[in-house]
Amino acid sequence: MAIERTLSILKPDALQKGVIGKIVDRFETKGLKPVAMKMKQLTTDEAGGFYAVHRERPFFKDLVSFMTSGPVLLMVLEGENAVAANREIMGATNPKDAAPGTIRKDFAESIDANTVHGSDSLDNAKIEISYHFAATELVAYDWAKK
Ligand code: PPS
Repeated sequence: MAIERTLSILKPDALQKGVIGKIVDRFETKGLKPVAMKMKQLTTDEAGGFYAVHRERPFFKDLVSFMTSGPVLLMVLEGENAVAANREIMGATNPKDAAPGTIRKDFAESIDANTVHGSDSLDNAKIEISYHFAATELVAYDWAKK
């Protein structure tokens, strides 16, 4: 099993509801450790740049508008197969399709306000982490320790 890092964002709906602790608990319980955390109010340029790959999609404006509607919590999660593990803990993009016990099933209202973002591949995780964090902002754990 590979120790990976992935970018997680707790979106404005999660912070507005006050469920940061409950969501982070799910990551920690499933073996993903935060190695960086930062509260931020994203600007339109920052959110637009982050989601640039979606700029031709019909929901792009709504997505950027939602992601700048309130503060977010940016996090780097580390753990075994962190990219896939995080996506499984999050659940499907549309909460209507999300499996029971996933974050989106339990906390998300709609496909617009779907509570969390997670990188969809290891390559994108590297790009997304460096978009929001300098290497010096990340800490390291000793995974050999229990
Ligand atoms: S995914 O997770 O990347 O496979 O999902 P995808 O369907 O490609 O969606 C990419 C991001 O766009 C968001 N999204 C939407 N926002 C607003 N309105 C609508 N209709 C909508 N559809 C998709 C979706 O939540 C994904 O955001 P992130 O932050 O990447 O999860």
